[in-house]
Parts: sequence; C-alpha cells; structure tokens
Amino acid sequence: MTNSTLKWLYPASKKKLFTNRKAILKQLNYNIEQIQTRETGENIVLIGLRKIGKTLILKEFMQQLIRSKEDCVPVYLDLEGLSLEPRNFSFTYVGYVMHWFNTRGTIMPMGIGEHKQIYSELAKIGDHELIDHVNEMNYLDDERIIHAALDFPELLANRTSTNIIILIDEFQQITEVSRDIIPLFRSVLQTQSRTHYLAAGSAVHILEKIFKEPESPLFLHFSIIPIKPFTRDDTRNLVKKVFGKTPDTISSRIFHLSFGHPFYIYVIAEKLKRFCEIDNLPLTTKLVDKAFFTETLNPDGKIYNICAYIFKESFRDIRKESIYRTILKCLAKAGHGTVTQIARETYLDTAIVGVYFNRLLHTDLVYKEGSEYFFKDSVLRCWMLYTFEGIVLDDYPSHKILEELIEQYREKFEKAASEEADG
Ligand SMILES: Nc1ncnc2c1ncn2[C@@H]1O[C@H](COP(=O)(O)OP(=O)(O)OP(=O)(O)O)[C@@H](O)[C@H]1O
Ligand SMILES: [Mg+2]
Repeated sequence: MTNSTLKWLYPASKKKLFTNRKAILKQLNYNIEQIQTRETGENIVLIGLRKIGKTLILKEFMQQLIRSKEDCVPVYLDLEGLSLEPRNFSFTYVGYVMHWFNTRGTIMPMGIGEHKQIYSELAKIGDHELIDHVNEMNYLDDERIIHAALDFPELLANRTSTNIIILIDEFQQITEVSRDIIPLFRSVLQTQSRTHYLAAGSAVHILEKIFKEPESPLFLHFSIIPIKPFTRDDTRNLVKKVFGKTPDTISSRIFHLSFGHPFYIYVIAEKLKRFCEIDNLPLTTKLVDKAFFTETLNPDGKIYNICAYIFKESFRDIRKESIYRTILKCLAKAGHGTVTQIARETYLDTAIVGVYFNRLLHTDLVYKEGSEYFFKDSVLRCWMLYTFEGIVLDDYPSHKILEELIEQYREKFEKAASEEADG
C-alpha cells in the first residue's frame, strides 16, 4: 500500500467528510476475518435509497481492506459505467480482476479488457493455467464466455493462495449482460470458496426481488444490509465537518429538513456555508430553511436535480407519466393515503388509481403499509409538493416567498406529523 492507493477513486477530500457507518464497516470487516479463517464468510449486499451512502461505504471498506489484509484482494466494478455486451463484459471483468490483483488500487484502471491490457496483466502474474483459461475464452459462445469470466477470480485466488472480494456497485445492472445471468451467477458462486461478493445498488425494488424473493436463484445467497439515514448525532458530525462547529439548533434543523439523508445534509450544510462566508448572512435556523429551499426548489440546486433524476428514472419505461404525476401530487399533499382517498381527490376511477399505485410499488418512490401508501423519501415528497404546483425559486428568494413556503411546509410536514403523534 502506497500513498497513492485509491486516491483516484476515493480522494482525501471525500474521505475527510466520511461519517460514522461504523456498525456496517465492523460487520464487513468481521466477514473478512471469517473468510480468512475459512469459516462462515458470506456474500453481502448493501441496499438503500439513492445517494444514501452505499458507494462511500464500499470505498471506505476497500481502503481499510487494502491497508490491513494482504491476502484479501478487493476488485471494484461499477456496472453503471461498463459495457454490458456479453463478450465485452467478460473480458472487462477478467481485466478488472487482474488489474486490482496486480495494482491493489494504486493505479487508475485504463483500457481494461483490451487485448493488450489482459495479456500484460497475465504476464505479470505469469501463471500458465490463467493464460490458458483466458486463451480459451476467445473461442466460447456468449453464455460460456460469461461463465468462464465469472470463474476466473476463483482460479486466480487458488493459483495465488489469496482471497478475492469482488465489490459490484449498481449490481442490478448485471441483468443487462444476459437474461440468464442470475442463475448462472448462482451456479458459479456455489463452486467458489476463495471468491466472495459485496454488492450494492440503488434500485431497491429490483434488488429486493433479486435477493429477497424465494423464487429468485440468489435468494439466501447474500446477506442483506439495509443502508439507513443518519441519526441526529451523525448529522451533527457531518455538519461539523462541512461547516465547522454550529449550535445544536442549527444541526437539528438540518436533521429535521433532510430526514437524516446524508447527501441532503451535505448539500444544505455546504449552501449554508456559502451564505455565511460569501454573503455574510447571520447563521440562524431561518438561514437553514433558505439553504434547504433554494437547493430543493431551484432547478440549479443539487437536491432539485437529484429529485428530478429519481423521478425521471422511475418512469423510464412507463407511459402515461401525467397520471402518475396527478396521483403523486395528491399523495405528496396528503402525505399518505388509501386508493379510495386519492381517487376521490383526483377525480380518477378507484380501479385505475389501484392499478397505478400497484405499478408505483415497482418504482422506488412509494411503499405500502396496510392499505395506505407513503413516500419512501420525504425530501422527494417535498420536491413534488412544490414543483408539481409550478413553484420554482431562484438562488435568492425574497423573504416573503420564503415565509410562505415555510408556512406551507409546516402545514404539510410538521403539523401533520405532530397531529399523528398526538392521536
Ligand atoms: N457516510 C457518509 N459520510 C459523509 N457523507 C456521506 C456519507 N454517505 C453519503 N454521504 C454523502 O452523500 C453522497 C452520496 O453518497 P454515495 O455516492 O455513497 O451514495 P450512493 O448510495 O452510492 O448513491 P447512488 O444511489 O447514486 O449510487 C456523498 O457524495 C456524500 O456527499
Ligand atoms: Mg452509488
């Protein structure tokens, strides 16, 4: 391990801000000890909402692993950025495994999967079985080549007496490689003892289908770690790292508005810092509100953009977006509701609303409890509540506009919550 290890993937500026997640890292490190002693090491998947911090956990863990365990080699693959055409994917997969094995994260991966890269890495390892395995891949059909690629890390680990930990980010994308890759993946991992997998992904609904449903081939093959929002204490710590020390009233307000979601906490704290340092505005809870609303309701804001992206992604393959919009707008106003209640408010037929809600459960926007539907992400709810009414802000909204927004926010989020708590 040198100073440049992982700098290209996890720069010091990001690492400095990394907050908590201690229990999860402990669990991941414990698993590595189990793998090393060949006891009950398992495959693990981190599942959580967009931007909740899955990738940062992978990177932090990987850095700890490289520093502490020579015989456990991490291989990091972000499927979002890879070609998933079967042959291309297969050689890229093998290329990544060798790149990480030979560099342990010190060098940025470039040209991975290209003929030249593959053979230069193979030459560095200098093992004939590995060279034969890769040579044979050239003559296989699509299905067998994927199989051979997935087999490669175990062969490498056996030939070098190491353990390989494959970290796969945005795991749900793997189904793009081949329709049958999940059963194939299962059959491969059942034969492996020196290769383990740590996956992560944002498409909660799809991942739960892959890992939690009894009819899925990967059911019970991975332990699931749900990634949750921050606590009030975590929020205070992250705010301190971004902004500097603040009174508790400030970090509490940030916690309240962000619902503990680390990305939203970070964005609000950064904006607050700008307001204070560049515009010389006094640090008050009102300024926190201003930071939150300008980031959420200004189309240039970071929270606005992530919410718009989540919304758009949810409807990528769905037509009739306008009906969903009508239903979600109504649900955003009410906070929660049954099919009958939403049908009444939207003038839509109850049966139709039922069908649309069912499809909404296949996105990561809403969940159902009893007969009621709720938003998974309350900040997203807030974004819909205002932007679906046509409300957008510039970077410096007037005092009056801000007061009106806050009043509406109180009405929808705070009064409703306290009434529910009371009654
Ligand atoms: N533990 C943490 N400490 C400090 N900041 C965090 C932490 N977790 C998340 N963040 C903030 O949230 C942002 C998003 O984190 P990350 O990219 O890890 O999320 P993700 O769940 O992988 O997102 P995506 O769903 O887009 O893949 C980070 O860039 C950082 O600003
Ligand atoms: Mg991520």
